[in-house]
Amino acid sequence: MTAAVAALQATGLCKRFGALQVTQGVDLSLCAGTRTALIGPNGAGKTTLVNLLTGVLRPDAGSLRLFGEEVTAAPAAVRTRKGLVRTFQISSLFAQLTVFENVFIAVAQAAGRGFSLWRVAGRQRDLLERTEALLERMKLKTDMHRKVSEIAYGRQRLVEIAIALALRPRVLLLDEPAAGIPSTELDLLHGAIDTLPPEIAVLMIEHDMEIVRRFASEVAVLVNGAVLMSGKPREVMAHPQVQAVYLGTAGQRRFEGALAYA
Ligand SMILES: Nc1ncnc2c1ncn2[C@@H]1O[C@H](COP(=O)(O)OP(=O)(O)O)[C@@H](O)[C@H]1O
Ligand SMILES: [Mg+2]
Repeated sequence: MTAAVAALQATGLCKRFGALQVTQGVDLSLCAGTRTALIGPNGAGKTTLVNLLTGVLRPDAGSLRLFGEEVTAAPAAVRTRKGLVRTFQISSLFAQLTVFENVFIAVAQAAGRGFSLWRVAGRQRDLLERTEALLERMKLKTDMHRKVSEIAYGRQRLVEIAIALALRPRVLLLDEPAAGIPSTELDLLHGAIDTLPPEIAVLMIEHDMEIVRRFASEVAVLVNGAVLMSGKPREVMAHPQVQAVYLGTAGQRRFEGALAYA
C-alpha cells in the first residue's frame, strides 16, 4: 500500500539570521483535511517557519514539497497559485475600501485578471457571485458595504480569511488569527474556522490552548527552532517534555485547561 502524498511536506528546513540559528532541521507534514496547531513559546521560530513555507524566506537547507512537487526554490506567488495560502498576523486589508471590494479584488485576482477590472466585464457576474458566497460563508454580508476601517477588529480578521479563501487554498496557514481579538468577538472567529472547507489542510499558529483544543486534529510543538514533538493533541499535550516547556508561565494554566480532554 502506498501512503497518500502529503499536501505539504517540509524536510530538514534550516534558517539562520547572522549567528542565530532560528530554524533547525524542521520536518513537518500536513495531509489534506487535517487541522494542525503549531504551538511553542515566543521566539521559537513559528513565524519564521511560516515564512519559509510560503517563500517569503529562503531556507539555508532542507526541502519543501506541495502535493509531491518540489517547490523549495519557487517564489511565493508560484506557491500561492499551487494552493499554498496564508493570512497575515498584521492586517493587510485596504482599510478605505468596503468589505465587499476587498474580497472582490482577491476573487478577481484569483481569476487571473488582477486589477484590470475592465477585462473581466464579461465574467463579472461569476466574480460577484463568488464574492457573495465567500461573504456569506464568513457571515460578513451584513457588513459588506461598510469600509473595513469601520468594522470591528474581529470582523476584519474574517475579511482576511475570506480573502485567503478567495485564492482557493489547498493548504492554508493561519498565523495567530486570534491575536488582538477581544474575547467577546472570538466566537465569530471560531465559527469561521469551523466552516473552512474540510478538504483543505490547515496549519494554525495559536497560543490560546482553548482554541487549539477546539481546532486541532494534530499538534506540533516548536521549541528553539526544532519540532520537539508532534502527534494527536491529547498525547502531545500530556507529554512531560511539552508540559515542561510551559511550566511556570501563564501558558501552564491554559495548558492544564487544555488537558481536560473528555
Ligand atoms: N529577519 C530576522 N532577522 C533577525 N532575526 C530574526 C528575524 N526574524 C526573526 N528573527 C528572530 O528569530 C527568532 C524567532 O522569531 P519568530 O519566528 O518570529 O518566532 P515566533 O513566531 O515563534 O515568536 C527570534 O529570536 C527573532 O528575534
Ligand atoms: Mg510569531
